[in-house]
Amino acid sequence: MVEQVVEQPEASAFIRPDPAGTPSRWSRLRRIPGLVLGEQLGGGPPLGRLPEPAVMDASDQVEAFDRAMAAVRPLYRRVARQVSALVPRGGTVLDLGCGSGHLLEELLALRPDCLAIAVDLSSAMLARTHARLTAAGLCDRCLFLREDMTIPLPIRPEAVVSMFAAHHLPDAVLLRRFLAALAGYAAEGAAVVLWDLARPRQAGSIPAFREAFHPGCPPCFARDVEHSLRAAWSRAEVQAACRAAGLAARVACPLVVPLVPLWWSVVLPATRGRDLTSCRFFGR
Ligand SMILES: C[S@@+](CC[C@H](N)C(=O)[O-])C[C@H]1O[C@@H](n2cnc3c(N)ncnc32)[C@H](O)[C@@H]1O
Repeated sequence: MVEQVVEQPEASAFIRPDPAGTPSRWSRLRRIPGLVLGEQLGGGPPLGRLPEPAVMDASDQVEAFDRAMAAVRPLYRRVARQVSALVPRGGTVLDLGCGSGHLLEELLALRPDCLAIAVDLSSAMLARTHARLTAAGLCDRCLFLREDMTIPLPIRPEAVVSMFAAHHLPDAVLLRRFLAALAGYAAEGAAVVLWDLARPRQAGSIPAFREAFHPGCPPCFARDVEHSLRAAWSRAEVQAACRAAGLAARVACPLVVPLVPLWWSVVLPATRGRDLTSCRFFGR
């Protein structure tokens, strides 16, 4: 049984300071009490789940996603630190559903001793990650794979991370297959860090979430936010799927913004020894 680490509540808001001309931090944050009231006090089950397309391949969608997520870069930094704390010196980190590479840029910059494997089914996203890491001088420590994250890869990373990707899985069977793949990496001793959105209980939380975290975003990203929240898994669904997949983890609610329960996370420490010789990076 793998020991679990439970997220501690924290009060920081993961939003960048506003450049001139964009809505003020206050105008964004004043949306949050409505989110809290709707989600905490509104009661009831989550909204019905509406799956969204799995792969983000359209160039305008990739571009809009990449720009919009730059606004929540401090959240990527926080998760990079969380992963870094679980990876031994010289370790390899597997990022499943890496998207445009915000997390990998933070992680590889933070850990010059580490290597990464970026996995995504979208060639456009992998190309964006490649460009981002090249511009940052980090590309030579990353391998890019166009693969399905629900199928285990024949590698033995020190840590596996996946952010905002599980909600793209079309159904509960694939969610279980994805979590079973993670359980396999964990059984080999890898640490696991998993973050995603949680499906809201109230339809009104969707525009409130968008205005709080992505104000003024282009229409195609606004649609993405709505589709993602409607496709997201609830904590209870992920907890049940973890059990079924043999991933001994507790699904926590990371309080990104206090009391807004629209995210969940799983954090499992590595069980493999923290020595350099355990690092496997294909031929290395
Ligand atoms: C919302 S993006 C998140 C990207 C990145 N992790 C982040 O947080 O910025 C989800 C990514 O998962 C990818 N994806 C969806 N299903 C996948 C699958 N089965 N295997 C690999 N990648 C997948 C999509 O193409 C997309 O790039």
